[in-house]
Amino acid sequence: MTSGEPRHRIHLGDNLDVLRAIPDASIDLVYADPPFNTGKRQQRTRLRTVRSAEGDRTGFQGRRYATLRGETRSFGDRFDDYLGFLEPRLAEIRRVLAPHGSLYLHLDWRESHAAKLLLDEIFGREQFLNEIVWAYDYGGRARDRWPAKHDTILLYAREAGRHVFDTGAVERIPYMAPGLVSPEKAARGKLPTDVWWHTIVPTVGRERTGYPTQKPVGILRRIVAASSRADAVVLDPFAGSGTTGAACLALGRRFVLADESPEALRVMARRFAGVSDIAWIGFDPHAESEQSGG
Ligand SMILES: C[S@@+](CC[C@H](N)C(=O)[O-])C[C@H]1O[C@@H](n2cnc3c(N)ncnc32)[C@H](O)[C@@H]1O
Repeated sequence: MTSGEPRHRIHLGDNLDVLRAIPDASIDLVYADPPFNTGKRQQRTRLRTVRSAEGDRTGFQGRRYATLRGETRSFGDRFDDYLGFLEPRLAEIRRVLAPHGSLYLHLDWRESHAAKLLLDEIFGREQFLNEIVWAYDYGGRARDRWPAKHDTILLYAREAGRHVFDTGAVERIPYMAPGLVSPEKAARGKLPTDVWWHTIVPTVGRERTGYPTQKPVGILRRIVAASSRADAVVLDPFAGSGTTGAACLALGRRFVLADESPEALRVMARRFAGVSDIAWIGFDPHAESEQSGG
């Protein structure tokens, strides 16, 4: 970016269009937190034919067939739709990443296995770095299985070996059993592993924006600190309440955010009200915040 251009950009629109307009290899880090329900949920009813003299179709050798409506497949189709939705976006994300860049794809335990196979295809299995488990402890508890209390974040490098990863920049955490290490070590804390214990965004408090799928800024700080350098450009194509932007502001990175929901943009307009260095594309943050009284 040349001087005079705003440091940050926030787009209202489908991220596929936003991604297509971003030059090759120009982004240092991507964090993507797509919704599971893409709004493209479809139910397709399978048709099955059986031989029947009264059938409505004529087939091989003039035989008559009847068409039966099969069972409705919604889960499989929904899944095809989901991966069909993700695939072109992940391909664009790979294209815009710099050789030292990486992608964190935030999913939950329901779809992470299928998305992993898709990413292995698009990025290459050899670029896979981590499956991060974000464990929390909140909400109801299933009684017929182990209560699911984690999300999965898949980390892929654009080119493993060239990727930025700076453990020195990561905030250290307390040892689980500090009595087992020296007092100096206990005071320094330890590096996080691939299992991250972190509370969800507290239901009351300063961090809460009111956006239903808001992720904790502590998770984003860790990602941005470890996998980008100072002044890097970080892209979040499913920005929601703008948590990635908040982490970037705290750590001195530039950000490009996109969301197709005007409500998300309104929440971001409030969250970044004091930040002047943002270009808003397709959205007027002042008009909207006046309308919503914020
Ligand atoms: C799980 S939320 C992201 C929450 C975010 N990480 C946060 O901390 O607030 C997913 C977001 O993706 C947006 N979204 C879904 N499909 C999109 C698309 N095709 N283009 C842009 N945004 C999209 C939704 O509007 C929603 O805000």
